[in-house]
Amino acid sequence: MNTQATVSAQPNLALVKYWGKKNRGINVPATSSIGLTLNGIETRTTLTLMDRGTGGPRIKVNGTELQDSRFEVFFRQAEKLFSPRLRQTGISFSDIIEKLAVDSTNNFPTAAGLASSSSGLGALAFGLDALLETRLERSALSALARSGSGSAARTLYGGFVEFREGSTRARQLAGNDHWPEFRVVVFTVSAQAKKTSSRAGMNAIKKSSPFFPAWVRNSRSLYKEMRSAVLDRDIEKTGTIARLSYLRMFATMFAANPPLVYWQPESIEIIHALEDLRSQGIAVWETMDAGPQVKALCEEKDLAAVLAAFHNRESRPIILSAGKGPEVIETWK
Ligand code: DP6
Repeated sequence: MNTQATVSAQPNLALVKYWGKKNRGINVPATSSIGLTLNGIETRTTLTLMDRGTGGPRIKVNGTELQDSRFEVFFRQAEKLFSPRLRQTGISFSDIIEKLAVDSTNNFPTAAGLASSSSGLGALAFGLDALLETRLERSALSALARSGSGSAARTLYGGFVEFREGSTRARQLAGNDHWPEFRVVVFTVSAQAKKTSSRAGMNAIKKSSPFFPAWVRNSRSLYKEMRSAVLDRDIEKTGTIARLSYLRMFATMFAANPPLVYWQPESIEIIHALEDLRSQGIAVWETMDAGPQVKALCEEKDLAAVLAAFHNRESRPIILSAGKGPEVIETWK
């Protein structure tokens, strides 16, 4: 067992969305999603076993101590997963938790629709395994991360990752070298934390949106089409389906009572600007999540044209590609 482990995990951006949960289990998705683990932005998490009990786990995110019900559920599941592996060591999981200090930093805006909770919980699951030297399978860590946040299940793998409806864990669809030309250009419209979390949003929509059952039914065909589009590296098909998926997801929100609107005027301006680019023959589409940010999807060959169209914007876009997934940065005995 180590006394300290530092790991990194990257957010996973959904190309077809997980939006809504089954009535059973913890964060079991009502829709199948396919996402890309990103390279270029990351959560870095250091887990330390202190000499004495701290009433832990003490968790800091970007320097601020956080209490979140997600962590309670996560650590209850972690106890079930790790306890049997710790038997030989003579240390109980509750002792470890008591002494655990977690320090997590994102090098991108937290809670602003860039999937920071996904990489945060992914890093925590991966980091516990590194700290305790339990060498669990990725799929077990994916299931653990999911108990903290559904989309986090996808961050345990690099490249393109799928998380099937009704499943408890994600699996890799294609590695990070599958589509090296694929790019995501993030336009940060607002770096402020959103008012309604994805979780609160999707739970409210399930209760009150008349479109929710149709969204769930329709997502099945979008998932199947996206799967083959990604495997074929077909940018036109990938972009077109990604657009349908996020816009249909937002349709569930607009139809809810009360309606939920994450968009800002600039989000819509960017959507239109990308449409103009497409009409000029530039192969670019976009996706959005539960926040105002717009993420353009294109290939390297069209990147310069996309960036040129937005050169007047104050904040610079972030250019990302497929990432390798979580990594151990260093460990201490
Ligand atoms: C719009 O994974 O944050 O980003 O499972 O309740 O923690 P919980 O929700 P979360 O929701 C992600 C929603 C999304 C789409 C996606 O990433 O698939």
